[in-house]
Amino acid sequence: MRPAQAGGANWGGAAFDAETGYLIVRATNRVYVNALAANDGSDPRILAPYSDWLVPRGEQFSTLRGLPLVKPPYANLTAIDMNKGEIAWQVPLGEGSATIRNHPLLEGVELPARLGSGTTGGALVTGSGLVFIGGGDGYLYAFDKHSGREMWRGSIPFRNAGVPMSYRAPSGRQFIAVSGGAGTDGSLVAFALDAVMETQAHEENDAPEREPVSGIAAGRDAFERACRVCHGTEGRGDAAPALVPFALDVTQVTGIVRDGRSEMPPLSERTVTAQEIAEITDYLRSLSPR
Ligand code: HEC
Repeated sequence: MRPAQAGGANWGGAAFDAETGYLIVRATNRVYVNALAANDGSDPRILAPYSDWLVPRGEQFSTLRGLPLVKPPYANLTAIDMNKGEIAWQVPLGEGSATIRNHPLLEGVELPARLGSGTTGGALVTGSGLVFIGGGDGYLYAFDKHSGREMWRGSIPFRNAGVPMSYRAPSGRQFIAVSGGAGTDGSLVAFALDAVMETQAHEENDAPEREPVSGIAAGRDAFERACRVCHGTEGRGDAAPALVPFALDVTQVTGIVRDGRSEMPPLSERTVTAQEIAEITDYLRSLSPR
């Protein structure tokens, strides 16, 4: 039976993009053998005349010495053009099983980079045209909504089965959050969407006239107390990257300090005040060669 009882798509559902009219859906591609038995009335929950529930191991994953019977991809992401009723694009989703990839029967066979990982979560489309979806393989993926091209993927600590979520923080940064793991492994991971925007801001800030030097001594004290432990003496780097030369403005620094960034935890007003952030900014800029 293909797809299996769990279906091609699953409870993760589909994402719809109104601009393109695309419905974007994950599907799993697996072959199972099903066995049915006539209903003998032994289980009052079964009302149908035939059921695989009455057969021990009624549904079994069909493999040849551990290899699925169909070729990869074992999971796809598909965009269906709802105006035309056609598939606009279809791409493999997830790295797939390392056991299959390294299977002795496949020695010498060239396999695609993405075999497809079976999982259930659905997709999220952003206004900027990205489709985010967990690959079921420990990564969150971003695809171009027009072409299905894989644009990015970020590692998450556990396999993901949920649908990604998006929100914007008061600083203006947009985040994509995704759940992963289960039980005590359960985790929520958020990625910020502004990496590219900040690079542009860096470039725009390369040659501005400097703000008047003020509060530098106070900035040094605040930096020593709140930042030096990670960013090193005079911001020259330690466990965290060097901050000099420094071209960010106070709004950008406030965003990073308040929201945190990958390994950097968010620091609240209790740790460093708004004024201290401004003074730290002045201090770091004063260390940079003019
Ligand atoms: C617990 C360690 C830690 C502390 C404390 C910390 N940072 Fe960071 N910070 C990091 C790490 C790690 C990164 C790199 C994050 C990444 O991967 O992008 C970072 C990144 C940054 C960046 C971005 C650098 C760039 O080039 O994009 C800025 C700015 C920054 N920190 C400022 C500060 C300031 C100001 C303070 C003190 C108020 C501070 N940090 C305190 C760990 C820390």
